[in-house]
Amino acid sequence: MMIKSTTRVARAVLCHMGPRYFSTTALHGCVASDVQAIRGVFGGTTTFFHGNLAQSSEKVLVGCMRLLAVGGARKASTLALGDKQQEEEKKVQGGETGGAAAAGGGNNNKGIVSYWGVEPAKITKEDGSEWRWNCFKPWETYKADLSIDLKKHHAPVTFLDKVAYWTVKSLRFPTDIFFQRRYGCRAMMLETVAAVPGMVGGMLLHCKSLRQFEHSGGWIKALLEEAENERMHLMTFMEVSQPRWYERALVFTVQGVFFNAYFLTYLASPKLAHRIVGYLEEEAIHSYTEFLKELDKGTIENVPAPAIAIDYWRMPPNSTLRDVVTVVRADEAHHCDVNHFASDIHYQGHELKEAPAPIGYH
Ligand SMILES: [Fe+2]
Ligand SMILES: [Fe+2]
Repeated sequence: MMIKSTTRVARAVLCHMGPRYFSTTALHGCVASDVQAIRGVFGGTTTFFHGNLAQSSEKVLVGCMRLLAVGGARKASTLALGDKQQEEEKKVQGGETGGAAAAGGGNNNKGIVSYWGVEPAKITKEDGSEWRWNCFKPWETYKADLSIDLKKHHAPVTFLDKVAYWTVKSLRFPTDIFFQRRYGCRAMMLETVAAVPGMVGGMLLHCKSLRQFEHSGGWIKALLEEAENERMHLMTFMEVSQPRWYERALVFTVQGVFFNAYFLTYLASPKLAHRIVGYLEEEAIHSYTEFLKELDKGTIENVPAPAIAIDYWRMPPNSTLRDVVTVVRADEAHHCDVNHFASDIHYQGHELKEAPAPIGYH
């Protein structure tokens, strides 16, 4: 008896939850029989309790079922929509706004039904073809400035500079041992770390701006731009090198440690934090230079550039991995300048907000 009743309740719940996830059919038919089912079970099981308690439990549960029904209807059903809206949804589901499927955050053919009016506008490239990336838009793309001086180096003079310099140098040994000459994998893994400081610095400056009722001089945006740019490096290298399970585990651990260490360092001394990033970027330039040497020697295959890179850096369609590494290295040189500059501002006794931030410097 008990098993039978439980089965009826499970069926009733499925009847309500099902439409939420699988169907757009009407819900009304379920309600009356479900309430009966619940009554059946609670009529049997609640004899252990006083009558009032049983009745109120029943009311609460029926209320919950109604809420689920309404929630399900809101999320899944098209019954409440007019014919015109249903037509529009069919068009979306048919892929009218979907466009070509693309890896790494591109559109897919499955339209997502929404009546909130936030469907993205159809964006096209300069040549009129459809823009296929959701993760960045055409106005965020740029041509890398390859003329930047890659040999610039900030000589460590002060105590804090030396701390920053030797911290970065000491981090290089385990990295060299772990990756050896697997530069593709190395680049991908290091980008998972490189994208953290900009986000942490930007977040802390954002909070400071709120706390102290003051402008940031554009530095929040500049640092968040850097974080986003580093993340795009990662999204690009992901296309040519897939992380193994133990590398994913390593990223997980390193991110936990590095995020917190950098957060505390930035709180204690922003000039040290930016100097560390400046030296990290110098190391990144060195790593990418070695990567290019391996590509030139032929030990790493110079495969065609991933589509995401061609669109992000506005590269010619026949670009190769070598071209990608070259523009990424130029980006690192720009990050290097920005972070050493930020550290210098602090060294000269000023705050970042006093110097206009190099937004869009790449
Ligand atoms: Fe990077
Ligand atoms: Fe960088």
